[in-house]
Amino acid sequence: MSWSAEQYMKFEDERTRPARDLLDQIPNLPDGPLYDLGCGPGNSTELIHDRFPAYLLTGIDSDENMLTAARKRLTHTRFEKGDLAEWTPPQPAVLLFANAVFQWLPDHLAILDRLMDQLIPGGTLAVQMPDNLDEPSHASMRDLAEDARFSKFYANGSQRRDPLPAPAAYLDRLTAKSIKIDVWHTIYYHRLANADAIVEWVKGTGLRPYLDVLPPDARETYLSAYLDHIRDAYPPLADGRVLLKFPRLFVVAVKR
Ligand SMILES: C[S@@+](CC[C@H](N)C(=O)[O-])C[C@H]1O[C@@H](n2cnc3c(N)ncnc32)[C@H](O)[C@@H]1O
Repeated sequence: MSWSAEQYMKFEDERTRPARDLLDQIPNLPDGPLYDLGCGPGNSTELIHDRFPAYLLTGIDSDENMLTAARKRLTHTRFEKGDLAEWTPPQPAVLLFANAVFQWLPDHLAILDRLMDQLIPGGTLAVQMPDNLDEPSHASMRDLAEDARFSKFYANGSQRRDPLPAPAAYLDRLTAKSIKIDVWHTIYYHRLANADAIVEWVKGTGLRPYLDVLPPDARETYLSAYLDHIRDAYPPLADGRVLLKFPRLFVVAVKR
C-alpha cells in the first residue's frame, strides 16, 4: 500500500494524541537506544525526542514518502528504511515505540513477542493500534467492496486488514516476558467539520488500500458512494459538525 505524508498529516493533532497518551504511560528508561517503529512523517518521533532528548533515537518505516517527510521534520534524528515483519534492532533497545502501525501487520502478536526479546531488562514495548474495523467508517469500505460495481477489483483481498486479537491475547502472549504489562482501550470522539472530513481522514489511512486497486473512473464512483454511506452513518451534531468515534487499543509491557 502507498502512503502520503501530506494526506496523513491533514489531521495531525488528532492522529498524534494517542501517541502522546501512549508516551505518558512509559516509565523512566535505562540507558540505551530508542526506536520509533512505523515512524511515518516523524510526528510520533518528535514526541519521543522531546521526552527523551539525551537518548539515541531512530525512526523505522517501510515507506520512502514518509521517511522523506520525517527527515525534513527532524534533521538531527536518524531514519532508516525497514519492514517490521522482519526488522530487529542492531543492538538491544530500551524503547520500542509503535503508534498506529502494527494493525497493518498480519500475526503481529508473534512479531511483538519476538521484539520483547530485543529489549534490555527494564526496557519498554509501547504499542497503540486503531481498533475501529467495526465502525461505520470501515464497515462501509467493506460493504462497498462487495458491491457488484467494484467487487472484481477486490478479488485477491489485499485491501483487507485483520481484526485485532482480543486484549487477553496480548496479555497471554507477553506476560511471561514482562515485569509489568498494561492493556487498555481508549475511545476518542473526534469532532470534524463534516462527512467529507471523515472521508479525507480515512483517505490518509484505512481507505488507501481500497482506492489503490481501483482504476481512476471506478475510484471516483467508489468515493462518491462511500461519501453517501458516511453521510448516512454520521449525522450532523447540533453545531453542524460530525462525530468520528475511534476506539484504539494500547499495550505497554516492561521487559523482565
Ligand atoms: C498510520 S502511520 C503512523 C505514523 C506515526 N507513527 C504516528 O504516530 O502518527 C503508519 C506508518 O507505518 C508504516 N508501515 C506500515 N507497514 C509497515 C511495515 N511493515 N514496516 C514498517 N513500517 C510500516 C507506514 O509506512 C506508515 O508510515
